[in-house]
Amino acid sequence: MASGRPAVAATTVLLFALGCSGAGETGAPAAQSTAPPGIASPASPPPAAAGPGAPGIGDPDFPGDGNGGYDVEHYALKLGYTPESRHLSGVATIKAKALHELTSFNLDLSGFTIERISVSDGGDSWQRGLAFERSGDELTVAPVNPIPAGAAFTVEVVYAGEPKPVRGSSNLGTYGFIPTRDGAFVTCEPNGAKTWFPGNDHPADKALFDFEITVPAGLTALANGELDGEPVTRDGKTTYVWREKHPMVTYLATMTLGRFELREGETASGIKNLAAVDPRYRDSLDDLYTLSGKITDHWATVFGPYPFSSTGGVVDDFSAGYALENQTKPMYGGFDPDEDIIAHELAHQWFGNSLSITRWKDLWLNEGFATYSEWIWSEHQGKSTAEQIFRRHYSADDDDPIWSYPPGRAEPDDLFNNSVYTRGGMALHALRQRIGDQVFFDLLKTWTTDHKYGYVTTEEFIALAERLSGKQLDALFDVWLFRQGKPATW
Ligand code: ARG
Ligand code: ZN
Repeated sequence: MASGRPAVAATTVLLFALGCSGAGETGAPAAQSTAPPGIASPASPPPAAAGPGAPGIGDPDFPGDGNGGYDVEHYALKLGYTPESRHLSGVATIKAKALHELTSFNLDLSGFTIERISVSDGGDSWQRGLAFERSGDELTVAPVNPIPAGAAFTVEVVYAGEPKPVRGSSNLGTYGFIPTRDGAFVTCEPNGAKTWFPGNDHPADKALFDFEITVPAGLTALANGELDGEPVTRDGKTTYVWREKHPMVTYLATMTLGRFELREGETASGIKNLAAVDPRYRDSLDDLYTLSGKITDHWATVFGPYPFSSTGGVVDDFSAGYALENQTKPMYGGFDPDEDIIAHELAHQWFGNSLSITRWKDLWLNEGFATYSEWIWSEHQGKSTAEQIFRRHYSADDDDPIWSYPPGRAEPDDLFNNSVYTRGGMALHALRQRIGDQVFFDLLKTWTTDHKYGYVTTEEFIALAERLSGKQLDALFDVWLFRQGKPATW
């Protein structure tokens, strides 16, 4: 949803043999198996006026991620999960808008059996039992009648099966829907949302989310946003309804389940605050609650008003080896979070969550900013100043790997490299040194205000920094973000 969506890179030829053209309840015959959806190639021509939606949203580093041809506005996810059998059943109702006339379109989904797919044109007439095709993580749906350009449509996917997380391609670790002893730990960056619901799994398409999650009574289901009413228990099962009323990218969605101890209330400034910890981490509950509230309130004074309706954090007993800034509910995987990492994940609520990247190569706009926020927090606490932390990192030897990886272009096979975090943070400090505290902090607030709930690129950040400072900053960003080697002058 919203503007700033990148153009679809390409369309592919994927034709379905459709036996009938009537609208309404007509079922189409099963798809004839034709060529699997291809990978969008940057060299291909722009999308045709009518045709299949592209199988990728157009991120050249992740060509299969997301989809072209439509823009999701809303996901309603009705999910049931039983930890014992690891069975998930889901009904995903996705409201979208066609960006060109669609003869077919793709969703990203990994695993599961599909029971039924229906599409409606927004009115009451549903085309049920539609033809679909699966190839890898691409699910291609062929409506009986093409969806006109600009039309709002709804697709309903009924599916079930055992969710399987993505297991560590290169250095990403395990992510997506990760079953735990008592439930699930669900952290999806960069592209693990497809392990539990069908969608447009790329940050360039934000949408609103409603979750209706049913679990065995006694377990808690945590999703983004706020609870709508009290959980309802019936026949040994409890249903939780959560709503995220602000635009959210798919990798920030969660349905974390299990036994949790909760502490709820409000921050000093009046933002709803919820901390949840696996019983094994019960000693962290009060600190997590208190620090999350305090830091959220502080960031609102530095970065501008908190963009969402609640804050907090979740500690589960899955040793992910990382934390994730899930919208409104940062998640810590199997460790007691200290204030640095809480400051980091909460800074992401502005940098990454409210302002989202459209290409993974710009990831330093999330991680460099969140890392730099840790340094600002330290400075604010009267501990090391950002300048001291910068100097410590700058003293790394000339052959330190941080100098050979330019953070302004995150590598698809090494997205979360230390350079994207630390050298990305250093780039911001170098900027602060150059333009002074007043312009620098004004820049941070202007950045979050101008692009609230939207999409951002590195070029836009550089342009804004130059405009507000009145300085030519190409050389500075060049040595810090784009060049190999330890910057000597800037
Ligand atoms: N964005 C997270 C953080 O910096 C890191 C996510 C890492 N994801 C992964 N699959 N390893 O806090
Ligand atoms: Zn981060």
